Amino acid sequence: MDVTKTIKWIKVDLYNEMSTVAANIFIKQLNEKPDSVLGFATGASPIGFYKQLVHHCQNGEISFSQVVSFNLDEYIGVPANSQMSYKTYMKEYLFDHVDIKDDNIYLPNSQTEDLVQECTDYEENIKKINGIDLQLLGIGVNGHIGFNEPGTPFDSLTHIVELSESTRMVNSRYFNSIEDVPTHAITMGIQSIMNTKAIVLLAFGESKRDAINRLRSGIVTEEFPASCLLNHENVTIIYGGF
Ligand code: PGA
Repeated sequence: MDVTKTIKWIKVDLYNEMSTVAANIFIKQLNEKPDSVLGFATGASPIGFYKQLVHHCQNGEISFSQVVSFNLDEYIGVPANSQMSYKTYMKEYLFDHVDIKDDNIYLPNSQTEDLVQECTDYEENIKKINGIDLQLLGIGVNGHIGFNEPGTPFDSLTHIVELSESTRMVNSRYFNSIEDVPTHAITMGIQSIMNTKAIVLLAFGESKRDAINRLRSGIVTEEFPASCLLNHENVTIIYGGF
């Protein structure tokens, strides 16, 4: 069996096209189930997607009033209100501009003292609400999803990770220097991602060519975390720009 066939591949020419296709999938989800549980990601890939969701919400076409959201990951050692936290990113690009309720927003809380307990609680909160209906993902140049770096066990749940040098290097574009990039983060695990009911992965630009080609090769290995998706039954990959 060709495992890559279980994935729906959508090739686009333009970044905006990728954002529109992804936004339409989320809009459909919200129209069908206004109280959806949505999984969000950060990074450069989804910025256009979030802009579109904001636009459609402000036009009254969709509402987040009943939505519960879970984010994939958060840095450890970065204050929640810092410009660099993923909480700030989400407020800036989505939460501050739509009608989502504060109490319905979940990001791993890396400010708490007991981070191990936080990981367990995060997973429990996802379970309590019956799982994530639709999860957005980016992909790292090394194939990471969330902050699940190469070698992460496929049965991992939300956990603390040490970031790889390559990820810290890529993310240093948002910091003054690589020394300022956190060394650790909390991330939903590979199993947590596989537990979501449907997944949309965004990959745009030359830097993602190798990762997408590796995914298309169909080899499932913990050395290339995104390859777990080949075993998920509802994945759409929107990619292009190379
Ligand atoms: P990017 O990050 O969207 O900024 O390329 C994706 C990722 O590293 O998961």
